[in-house]
Amino acid sequence: MTERRHTGTKIHVPVMPKEVLSSLAISTGGIYLDGTVGMGGHATLILKQLSPKGHLIGIDRDAEALNECEKRLSNFPTPISLFHDSYHNINTILDGLGIETVNGILLDLGLSSLQLDSAERGFSYTVDSDLDMRFDSSQDQKASDIINHLPVMELADIIYQYGEERRSRRIARSIEKMRPLKSVFDLIEAIRRSTPPNHRDRSLARVFQAIRIKVNGELDKLESLLSSFVERLSIGGRISIISFHSLEDRIVKHNFKRLAKAGSLSILTKKPLIATEEEMSLNRRSRSAKLRTAERIA
Ligand SMILES: C[S@@+](CC[C@H](N)C(=O)[O-])C[C@H]1O[C@@H](n2cnc3c(N)ncnc32)[C@H](O)[C@@H]1O
Repeated sequence: MTERRHTGTKIHVPVMPKEVLSSLAISTGGIYLDGTVGMGGHATLILKQLSPKGHLIGIDRDAEALNECEKRLSNFPTPISLFHDSYHNINTILDGLGIETVNGILLDLGLSSLQLDSAERGFSYTVDSDLDMRFDSSQDQKASDIINHLPVMELADIIYQYGEERRSRRIARSIEKMRPLKSVFDLIEAIRRSTPPNHRDRSLARVFQAIRIKVNGELDKLESLLSSFVERLSIGGRISIISFHSLEDRIVKHNFKRLAKAGSLSILTKKPLIATEEEMSLNRRSRSAKLRTAERIA
């Protein structure tokens, strides 16, 4: 679901807003880091609970989203620091601010409505555009580089590993035959030629997910954050992560368990929370959302 603002810009509706807020147990004068601040949907909700003594740090790889975010958050009295960066650089960012620890960290992985609805960025298989898929448009590698230049077996591995698509080899060979692919609709055609119609929608979603994960190094960045955040979270501070597919969720679950075993974290969600039926009916993106939260105890 998207709302349209008077400027014509679509606003991303944050998923599981109540659950996210209660999971973070916000203290009014605390420091909160939103590592995927996007257009500031969750950040707005957090800021509404913070006093001018608090601090919100927002990070996003997408400069366009950050611009929107900056405008949207400009009227809050609480100090806000926004960074065009990746959340896995948490240490450098906090060191630069002279902040040792924060009271809460939020990651809302996946795509914003701004990205999905874009007619140029190639994230959605319902809009024809360039094969781009970069969160950060200043990055060199685009989806087209992977699709058109990777050896076919490497491409098949990516589709299998990051998309969990078992027809990966057939799809990769079909892509190879159509090279050079120029647009999203070319990629859809390559997938159409190599998959049966009854499973095609799922295959499309899986291939797009796989290429996007590869282009943006998404799983490596998540692993990297999960190996480095603990020291930057205060004792009693919480980390909440919303994931949108099983690969991400598995990484979050395993790392929380590892840190719980080491005595650093207490896991507050034995099973991940999911959106209510009402939210799922109003906001399609929330249907695959899974929220896991843990608290630093030592
Ligand atoms: C689902 S949106 C977040 C929406 C935001 N919570 C809101 O309510 O407006 C996910 C955002 O994460 C950003 N992103 C993805 N990987 C990132 C990374 N490694 N570091 C920082 N931001 C990242 C994307 O650019 C996108 O804007």
